[in-house]
Amino acid sequence: MCGIVGYIGPRACAPLLIDGLRKLEYRGYDSAGLAVIDTSPTALGEPPKLGVVRSVGKLGKLDDAIRERPLPGNIGIGHTRWATHGRPTEGNAHPHLVGDVAVVHNGILENHVELRNELVALGRKFLSETDTEIAAHLIDIELANGAPTLLEATKLALSRVRGAYAIAAVSRREPDVIVVAKSFSPLVLGIGDGEVFAASDVPALIQHTRDVIFLEDGDICELRAGAVKIERLLVHGDGSPERITVTPVVRHPRRIDWSPAQAEKQGYKHFMLKEIFEQPTALENTLRGRVSLDDGDINSGEIGLSPEIARSIRRVVLLACGTSHHAAIAGRNWIESVAKVPATVELASEFRYRDAIIGEGDLVIAVSQSGETADTLAAVRDAKRQGAHILAVANVVGSAIPRVADASLYTHAGPEIGVASTKAFTTQLSALLMFAVWLGRRRETLGEDRAKQILQRAIELPTAMREVLDLADACQKIARRQIVATEANHCLFLGRGLSYPIALEGALKLKEISYVHAEGYAAGEMKHGPIALIDAAMPVVVVAPKDHHYEKIASNVQEVRAREGRVIAVVPKGDTTIAELAQDVIEIPDVDPELTPFITVIPLQLIAYHAADLKGTDVDQPRNLAKTVTVE
Ligand code: F6R
Repeated sequence: MCGIVGYIGPRACAPLLIDGLRKLEYRGYDSAGLAVIDTSPTALGEPPKLGVVRSVGKLGKLDDAIRERPLPGNIGIGHTRWATHGRPTEGNAHPHLVGDVAVVHNGILENHVELRNELVALGRKFLSETDTEIAAHLIDIELANGAPTLLEATKLALSRVRGAYAIAAVSRREPDVIVVAKSFSPLVLGIGDGEVFAASDVPALIQHTRDVIFLEDGDICELRAGAVKIERLLVHGDGSPERITVTPVVRHPRRIDWSPAQAEKQGYKHFMLKEIFEQPTALENTLRGRVSLDDGDINSGEIGLSPEIARSIRRVVLLACGTSHHAAIAGRNWIESVAKVPATVELASEFRYRDAIIGEGDLVIAVSQSGETADTLAAVRDAKRQGAHILAVANVVGSAIPRVADASLYTHAGPEIGVASTKAFTTQLSALLMFAVWLGRRRETLGEDRAKQILQRAIELPTAMREVLDLADACQKIARRQIVATEANHCLFLGRGLSYPIALEGALKLKEISYVHAEGYAAGEMKHGPIALIDAAMPVVVVAPKDHHYEKIASNVQEVRAREGRVIAVVPKGDTTIAELAQDVIEIPDVDPELTPFITVIPLQLIAYHAADLKGTDVDQPRNLAKTVTVE
C-alpha cells in the first residue's frame, strides 16, 4: 500500500505534492519522492528538465532534500511508499525514471518476474528491485517504438501487466500532460479552476477542491491544466495494439462535503474502525498473485523456502507476541491439520528465556505485524544461532525480523495505524493458511482436491467478511447493553479448536481499548477454575461456529446459563440450539470449518471497538500501549 499524487495547473507544484503526500502518509511512510517538469525556457531544441528527488524515511526527509535541490515547475507526480517489492532504499523509492519518463505506482504487478526477465533479455538495465520500474521501461519502449503520445504508450504498456495498479506518468517530451490509470488500487481526480489533482485518496486534495471524480477499474486518463480526458481500456489476449479496445467515458465530478480531518479516516470515526472494515480488501491483497486454483497450490517463490526444506523439516515452531501469537495458534492448528506436520506455538517472550531445544530440522515461523518486536526478534536470533530455518510472517517490508529470517511471507495488510491490531491479524491468518497448504502440497500430505477446496473457499472469504461487517450496528447494541450499560468490569470469552485463539483475541481487544478486564479461555478448561467466576453479572462471549466442536461448546453454554451467566453467542446462521440459550446472538455465514477464525473474529473486534467508543476511551491510542514494542 502506497500513496500517489499528481498536479497540473498554474501553481508551483512541489509544495502542493508534498502537502498531498503528507495526507497520504498513513498509506506508507518508508520513503518518498517527487518528479517535476520545469517548463522554463531551455536551450533551443532542448526538451524541458524533469527533476526527480527521492529520499528514505518520513516525508520530512523529502522536504529537506527538496530545500537543498528545489524542484521548480507546475506539473508533477509524487509518491509515499510502503515497500512491497524491494527494501525501503532510495533506489527503490518512486518516481522511477526511465529515459524521459517518470512513473509512480501503488499496487502490485503480479507478472513482474516474467516481464523483468523479458526486459533484461532485451538489454534493459534495472536500477531498482521494484515492480514499478518495469512499467516505466514498458512505457519507454512503446515511445521508442513509435507510440505517438504518453497516453498511447501507457495504454500499450498497461496491456502487458497483470495485477493491481494506480499509476501516474509524466514525460519531458510532453510537458503539459500527466497520464494516470487505475486497476484495483484507488485513484481519485480533483477538479479545480484551471488545475487538476490526482491522488490515491481524497484527503490529499480536499484542501484544494471538493469536486472529485472517483476513477473506476480500467480507466486511463490524460490530464491537462483544466481538461480531463478519460477512456476505458479493455485488454484482450496478448496486448498487441489491435487487442486493445479503448472507449471514451464521461465521469461527472461529485461534490464531497467531508472536512479534511474526517477524510483522513475516510469518514470513519477511528482508524481502528476503518481498519476493521478494510479487512476484506486486505485479505484480497494477501492472497493476490499467490494462490493457484488450477493446481491447488501456493506460488513457491512467494514463500521463499525450498521444497527440500519443506520435505526435510521435522517440526514447525511458531513464535510471536500478543495478537500475532493468537494468529500463530491458529497457524499451528492448520500446520497440523492441513499439512500434517508436528507444530508448536510459543510466546516469544517466554521462549527466549528458557532453555528451549531447537535446531536443525526445525522451521521457526516468526509472526509479527511490525517485524520489530524485541522479544520475537531476540527469539528468532537465538533459534537461528542454533541452526533452525526461519520464516518471517510480517507486514512491514524490510523490518528487522524479515532481515534476520531466511525467507519472508509478507501479509500486505498496508499500514495499520490503530494500536489495536485488526487487519494485521486476519492477514496473518491468511499467510499462515497459505503456508500450511504449501507445506502440505510439498510433503504430499495434502491432496490436490482438498487444497483446491480450501483455496477456493479462502478466496470467497472477503464476501463472507463483508456480510459480517454489516452486523456492526448489532454489535454496537450488544456492546452497549451487555458491557457499557451494565458497567461490566469483567468479561469471559470461550472457544474451542480454532475458536480458542479467537476467544483469546476477543478478550485482548476488549481489555486493551475499553479497559474492561477480559479473559479468553479454552471452553473445555472452564470447569477447571473459571466457572467459579460466573454469576448474573458476568458477560460470557461464546464463539461457536459450525465445526466439530459445536456440540461440546453447546454444553459449555448450558453450564454458563445454569449459573446465570449472560451469554453473547457467535453462532452459525439459522442456529437454534445455542441461540435459544443466549441473551444475544450474532449469526455468521457458513464457511469451511477450517476457515471460521477469519469470520468469527470480526464481531469480537466490533464489540470491543464499540464498547471502548461508548466508554469514550482513546480507541486508536489506548493508554500505556505502543504500536511497536521494541523494548524487552
Ligand atoms: C494487540 C497488539 C499487540 C501486538 C504485539 C506484537 O492489539 O497489537 O498485542 O500484536 O505487540 O506486535 P507485532 O505483531 O508487531 O510483533
